[in-house]
Amino acid sequence: MSLCCYLEYILIVVGVIFAFIAVADKLISKKRDLKGKHVMITGGSSGIGLSVAHEVAGRGAHVTLIARNIANLEKAKADVEATVANSVAGGKVQIFSVNLGCDSDAVSSVIKDAEAVLGPVYMLVNCAGFSRAQKFEELSPQVVKSVMDVNVLGSFFITQEAVRSMKQQQEGIIVFTSSQGGLLGLYGFSAYSAAKGALIKLAEALHMEVKPYNITVTVCCPPDTDTPGFEEENKTKPTETKLISEAAGLFKPEEVAHKLVEDALAGKFMTTNGLEGFMLTALCAGMGPITDLKSFLAQVLLSGVFRAVSAFYLWSFDRIVYKEYQQRMSSKKAE
Ligand SMILES: NC(=O)c1ccc[n+]([C@@H]2O[C@H](COP(=O)([O-])OP(=O)(O)OC[C@H]3O[C@@H](n4cnc5c(N)ncnc54)[C@H](OP(=O)(O)O)[C@@H]3O)[C@@H](O)[C@H]2O)c1
Repeated sequence: MSLCCYLEYILIVVGVIFAFIAVADKLISKKRDLKGKHVMITGGSSGIGLSVAHEVAGRGAHVTLIARNIANLEKAKADVEATVANSVAGGKVQIFSVNLGCDSDAVSSVIKDAEAVLGPVYMLVNCAGFSRAQKFEELSPQVVKSVMDVNVLGSFFITQEAVRSMKQQQEGIIVFTSSQGGLLGLYGFSAYSAAKGALIKLAEALHMEVKPYNITVTVCCPPDTDTPGFEEENKTKPTETKLISEAAGLFKPEEVAHKLVEDALAGKFMTTNGLEGFMLTALCAGMGPITDLKSFLAQVLLSGVFRAVSAFYLWSFDRIVYKEYQQRMSSKKAE
């Protein structure tokens, strides 16, 4: 038998194994459903959070939306109520204006206030957050503090409140929205990558703590997604960051939200979109929780190959950075 035949044979066997695992995974995984359940979404008035609200409302959940701007919250509530009206199972929608970055008293009471109307929170989706892409030395202390406060502490404290309630119920789903920029540090994202990376470690620790209580933890690592937040991020983004990140493409918030909800209901620890996302989450799994057979086998079998592929990505990123540096230097000399 020639080498080509051997390779073909190996590829077919690997393909069949993966197909078998995918089917087995679907049969084994006990997908939960959201009909009549209370889902709380921080950052639910815009972008990915708002799309998650539509996704869960369409599945019959009662929805609590949290953000700061009350006018945007009211508009989001009306939008999500329209989705509820078109779905078979009618849920309720309520809104709360809270600054998750600093308003600790309001954070501790919002779960109680929301639960008083819609019952115990079954699923908390932490979406509130923002990114600031700027060169390291140009980031002001206020911006760095705010990136940490909103992205990390804004998820931390409200999740503590939710976990207290979920432990009593002996069930629940917690979702943290990190980023692909939380899986690897990228040019211009020193504050943002640090904050989103911290969320992944927070989720790993919490996953181990709450597992016996039938509470699952999922981390969403979205790629670039077409949202008002992404538009804002682009305003300060260095050219290097734009060139590096555009390779992975731009996703729709609805696609990210759909995958987030599907994977969270299946209890998967990581959820992401696209080929780069698949590669990154497999490569960065480390000592993270093992929650499904398919992802685990992909991590075991493909990590070595993906590490080799990462060398090409890193080489092309370094080239972009070096080229921009040279251009800056030559225009400085010309001045
Ligand atoms: N879009 C992307 O390309 C992308 C990629 C990876 C990860 N992510 C992450 O995904 C999440 C959602 O991003 P997005 O692009 O959908 O953002 P977005 O469109 O700007 O929406 C952000 C939401 O968070 C709320 N929010 C912001 N700061 C808050 C605070 N201090 N307290 C309470 N609510 C706050 C906003 O409402 P108010 O301003 O009214 O408070 C809004 O509802 C973020 O965590 C982001 O880092 C986004």
